[in-house]
Amino acid sequence: MHLALLSVGRNFMPLAWWTPVSKEPFRFLLAIDRKNHTLFLLRELGEAALSFLPWEERAWVVRSGYLSGRRVDKAEKLGVALRPAQKLQKTLVPEKALAVFELKVEEWPSDGDHALFLGEVLHVEGSPEARRRPILFLGFRDFATLGETWRHR
Ligand SMILES: Cc1cc2nc3c(=O)[nH]c(=O)nc-3n(C[C@H](O)[C@H](O)[C@H](O)COP(=O)(O)O)c2cc1C
Repeated sequence: MHLALLSVGRNFMPLAWWTPVSKEPFRFLLAIDRKNHTLFLLRELGEAALSFLPWEERAWVVRSGYLSGRRVDKAEKLGVALRPAQKLQKTLVPEKALAVFELKVEEWPSDGDHALFLGEVLHVEGSPEARRRPILFLGFRDFATLGETWRHR
């Protein structure tokens, strides 16, 4: 799984369960554990930023998944510099993000232990660097980055 970082307001968490679900309009689907503080923030603010950090930043990205914004200011605790998003009102994104998708989100009714949110892309920014050394989540506590790439012609 390609690990993203989901920011809502000034809180953030690593997110493995995300996927694009429409090109026109451009939309992502996000699965959020009902125990996460992020769920409350998504419902309250209706916006989020899905961003991608380079492999070199993996330690704090993953660590933020073992802390809750309910109890700590993760940016302060982990020493992560944030900047305002371009189109969102209340959300900040990490300065070191290589690609950012800014989303307007709406909850998609479902009854699993994860709540589903459809995110409509309002703004995209990114550099080709974002594709070079992604943080890949292998499950449990294991991670990897790319070893080999290939273009189909
Ligand atoms: C590698 C990794 C991937 C994760 N993927 C998800 C995910 O897809 N959905 C989710 O709800 N939580 C996921 N989590 C758990 C949240 O990041 C974690 O519960 C976090 O502490 C929630 O923070 P919050 O309480 O500030 O919202 C993941 C955690 C890790 C370490």
